[in-house]
Amino acid sequence: MTALLEAKNVTLRFGGVTAVNDVSFVLNSNETVALIGPNGAGKSSLFNCITALYKPQVGSIRFENSELTTTSPNDIAKLGISRTFQNIELFGGLTVLENILLGRHLQMKANLFHAMLGTPTWVKSEVAQIERAEAMIDLLELQSYRDRRVRGLPYGVQKIVEIGRALVSQPKLLLMDEPVAGLTSDEKDELVQRLQELKAELGLSILLVEHDIRVVSSLAERIVVLEYGRKIADGSPEQIRNDPAVIAAYLGEEAETLEQKGKNP
Ligand SMILES: Nc1ncnc2c1ncn2[C@@H]1O[C@H](COP(=O)(O)OP(=O)(O)O)[C@@H](O)[C@H]1O
Ligand SMILES: [Mg+2]
Repeated sequence: MTALLEAKNVTLRFGGVTAVNDVSFVLNSNETVALIGPNGAGKSSLFNCITALYKPQVGSIRFENSELTTTSPNDIAKLGISRTFQNIELFGGLTVLENILLGRHLQMKANLFHAMLGTPTWVKSEVAQIERAEAMIDLLELQSYRDRRVRGLPYGVQKIVEIGRALVSQPKLLLMDEPVAGLTSDEKDELVQRLQELKAELGLSILLVEHDIRVVSSLAERIVVLEYGRKIADGSPEQIRNDPAVIAAYLGEEAETLEQKGKNP
């Protein structure tokens, strides 16, 4: 197994708050790693360090031969890292095909000049891009939605379109922040099944931030657990389920929720 992504001693502070505290972990090729932990544990902060939106004060994050902490957010995609957002960010007025095609913009060789003149280079490139997008639509079984505007489609379908847009650029690593948030339980099951199929078919490497431990257990080979910014466990779903520190962290969260419920009946 080769390390695709390696975070070493990452620390990120916001003023007096240490959101990520000396965290190290590895994600290997073809592996799905889930980042879990109670609210405020630092999951999104660490995720945003990997997408270069935040710059940690200490530590390094290597992706293949690149150092992500000194890469600009715009260059992350060029390295082969693609992401989905916690709140879907698609173009509602565009069709499913058009949205997925947008994910290919990095691969588009032809520039606006070629496009305006309709040069052979442009036509050839455009045809190749559309073929790729069509293949992604077939893979995700989105054919019946191909020409529908994204606005108005069920949320679960939009989620799958967003994943299609992220994958059509053929990234080496897919990052997902809470992919099942806001989905109904049926939509959740469907998305998990789709992701399992994609993993098998494309041999994807995935880093997943997720709150839902059942979703995590069915997708991830390995789980990294954060609490108060620190890594408290790193292992298989089985190991994590039986880890006393993890159980305590989640029991603590439940106790807090119960306490709040007690205060606001
Ligand atoms: N932009 C920010 N400015 C200040 N504090 C932040 C910011 N983002 C996150 N934090 C703080 O960092 C800690 C970790 O938050 P976050 O990474 O969002 O946790 P999680 O995603 O696990 O719920 C929290 O205490 C949160 O309040
Ligand atoms: Mg978060």
